[in-house]
Amino acid sequence: MIRILLREVKEYKKASVATPLFMILEVLMEMMIPFLMASIIDDGVNAGDIGHIYKVGGVMVAAASIGLLAGIAGGRYGAKASAGLAKNLRETMFNHIQTFSFANIDKYSTAGLVTRLTTDVTNVQNAYQMTLRMFTRAPASLLCAMVMAFRINGRLSSVYLAAVVILGILLAVIMSHATRYFQQAFPKYDDMNASVQENVSAIRVVKAYVREEQETVKFRKASENIYRIFMKAEGNLVYNAPLMQLTVYSCILLISWMGAKMIVASELTTGELMSLLAYCMNILMSLMMLSMVFVMISMSMASIRRISEVLRESSDIENPKEPVYEVADGSIEFRHVDFVYRKDSESPVLKDINLKIRSGEVIGIIGGTGSAKTSLVNLISRLYDVTGGAVCVGGRNVREYDMETLRNQVSVVLQNNVLFSGTILDNLRWGNREATEEECREACRQACADEFIQRFPEGYETYIEQGGSNVSGGQRQRLCIARALLKKPKILILDDSTSAVDTATDAKIRKAFREEIPDTTKLIIAQRIGSVKDADRIIVMDEGCVDGFGTHEELLRENAIYREVYESQTNGGGDFDEKAGD
Ligand SMILES: Nc1ncnc2c1ncn2[C@@H]1O[C@H](COP(=O)(O)OP(=O)(O)OP(=O)(O)O)[C@@H](O)[C@H]1O
Ligand SMILES: [Mg+2]
Repeated sequence: MIRILLREVKEYKKASVATPLFMILEVLMEMMIPFLMASIIDDGVNAGDIGHIYKVGGVMVAAASIGLLAGIAGGRYGAKASAGLAKNLRETMFNHIQTFSFANIDKYSTAGLVTRLTTDVTNVQNAYQMTLRMFTRAPASLLCAMVMAFRINGRLSSVYLAAVVILGILLAVIMSHATRYFQQAFPKYDDMNASVQENVSAIRVVKAYVREEQETVKFRKASENIYRIFMKAEGNLVYNAPLMQLTVYSCILLISWMGAKMIVASELTTGELMSLLAYCMNILMSLMMLSMVFVMISMSMASIRRISEVLRESSDIENPKEPVYEVADGSIEFRHVDFVYRKDSESPVLKDINLKIRSGEVIGIIGGTGSAKTSLVNLISRLYDVTGGAVCVGGRNVREYDMETLRNQVSVVLQNNVLFSGTILDNLRWGNREATEEECREACRQACADEFIQRFPEGYETYIEQGGSNVSGGQRQRLCIARALLKKPKILILDDSTSAVDTATDAKIRKAFREEIPDTTKLIIAQRIGSVKDADRIIVMDEGCVDGFGTHEELLRENAIYREVYESQTNGGGDFDEKAGD
């Protein structure tokens, strides 16, 4: 865990070393001041030596200035090192998350990842800064003040030693209580962020179902949980200040009382008593700071653990050692494929799938909801890895291909596809960065998107809001198809991608596919039989198995599920599940 931090902070090694050094310099200067003050009082004021006062006063100003500058420099370097650590940590995490496969992403909640990238990293940043500055400053200050005090008067200084031990034990007890609560707080942040994230990204659904009130209650609960934990934690910390003050003033009283008697007995000078009192403050403040640093560190430990969890998550889909960069053609073969999403799940999602699809074929895929249509096609572009058997594209196992090559050649329009904020052209160029405007227009023509884009006043420069919220469902689907077409793939997969498009346009898109990209293998998942009827062959999926595979006519003759659905849909109304289910 610590190794991860060291790696990220390497770039800021210099600042990380300079900070404690400057802090120690600051402490040394600070420690001189009470010492010099004693000299001013005893050898200057009491002896009536103005020259001595000026001289030592000058040294004091110099020491204070150097201390001040060292403090500023330490602060600056500390900020640089810790902010730099946070920056690197965030970048590394973000880049690492980009390598996650779909299976990796399934493991984390979006909110959890966001909290880790923001709150947790900020925690580590603060703790690191505190450590660099206070972890050296406080012990150094404690030690120096102790040594100085003992040099002045050993007997009186043993009062401090006793105070440090007592206060140290009490602080440790308080802090360990508080830390326990602080550590509970972070998982609760996940809950709160989840509530915000889910609500805000689905605010339209919330409104449509008039669920604002329930959502508000949910959020309030999450936020109250955090409130309660912090109240408990801080409730412990409130004892710090009174405890500290009690100790400081008891020490001052004791020292003054004992010191006064010693002055009378001429064992101590007034100046020495003054500096002893000043060191008292130093010693106990340092102890206090030290205890705060411990809280910060133990708090950040929870964060570091959560961060390293993400960084240690290795993508379970990786590029092969000697990847193949060329996909021969658009043929697809499934050989005894089994698939599960989670290793511990009971029944497989796909069971012993065997399919052979020729390059350039148009394949329809149909089946009830949850019959694993999406799961089937996701294996082709290796969004998930099979658990048994093999999927081949262009005659080779998909595991042999370079992942980028494979995904460029196998273009998937996902079932719940999104657009990103930016112009229409920007979005289209996700498919192909170098696509010219003419190519983009051509792809839109094939996807029947040009007709509505032309109606927008700004045409292809129309700005798409985050998630594509300012275009209709059908428009979004057509833009997503155009985006996939721009890849000029050997295999094109449409996962229910024309569900929101009217039947006539749907037919037009399919006609364009047949005429414009005849060599591309097309897999079309649909709920409407009309969308797949004219495909070369149709796969009927049922509960993770292939129930039938053939032409429309063959299936009508031989496949009971297909026939029932066909009849129900042609007789008006009826839906795949209704029929397939009963
Ligand atoms: N990411 C996932 N993690 C775990 N289980 C999943 C995941 N995605 C799908 N499943 C499960 O796998 C099964 C098949 O789902 P799949 O999405 O392939 O069905 P589908 O045929 O595409 O359905 P639909 O027509 O509704 O899109 C379902 O039982 C579903 O619960
Ligand atoms: Mg699906």
